[in-house]
Amino acid sequence: MLIRKAVYLVSSPSFDKCPKADRPEYAFIGRSNVGKSSLINMLAANQKLAKTSASPGKTQLINHFDVTSAAAEKAPSEKWYLVDLPGYGFAKVSQSSRRKWEQMIENYLRKRENLTMVFVLIDSRHKPQKIDLEFISQLDKWQVPFSLVFTKSDKEKPGVVKANVQAFFDALLETWQFLPRHFVTSSEKKQGRDDILQFIQECNRG
Ligand code: GTP
Ligand code: MG
Repeated sequence: MLIRKAVYLVSSPSFDKCPKADRPEYAFIGRSNVGKSSLINMLAANQKLAKTSASPGKTQLINHFDVTSAAAEKAPSEKWYLVDLPGYGFAKVSQSSRRKWEQMIENYLRKRENLTMVFVLIDSRHKPQKIDLEFISQLDKWQVPFSLVFTKSDKEKPGVVKANVQAFFDALLETWQFLPRHFVTSSEKKQGRDDILQFIQECNRG
């Protein structure tokens, strides 16, 4: 898939303020600092598209990016949205702003009718974390389609990444019979870009 254009559109404080639901939409979510904004920039091949930060809690609103892609050089354009969401599990937030976050995210995930796929980002350097497993089981309960993206693979030895991915699957298999689609990525090394874009193209076509 070729990205012809990717531009920032709007940041919305709530589900009902989001742009018109007139095209497929792909949202990126996960722990604060896991690499959501960096992954979006990697996919769009534009390091300045989504704001990234070394300190967690950078992304606060529902951020829509307008993308135009094509299967090949002369193929017709396809239009879709990328959505950068604020992360969960950021320790330094008050109870009330955490609740506000939960309400905003739940509404968005459950009501956004053009939401085609949610990518849940998991830090590949760590053993399975309760907060990620709980979030995934919530998505399952809400029947929101999702895939897993293991991030920052360049920061660990390949063997450790592999073991952590397997441990995550083992944890999922304790309650599930099927595993979701998954991708191992590094925004630093551009690993996983082609596979995710290919997958989005398949999803765009239903
Ligand atoms: P919030 O918006 O705060 O929830 O964070 P986020 O999930 O959007 O993370 P962001 O993309 O801002 O990245 C957080 C930090 O991790 C930044 O310092 C990035 O440069 C770094 N980072 C993200 N992805 C990678 C990666 O694949 N490899 C390496 N080495 N660093 C990464
Ligand atoms: Mg971010």
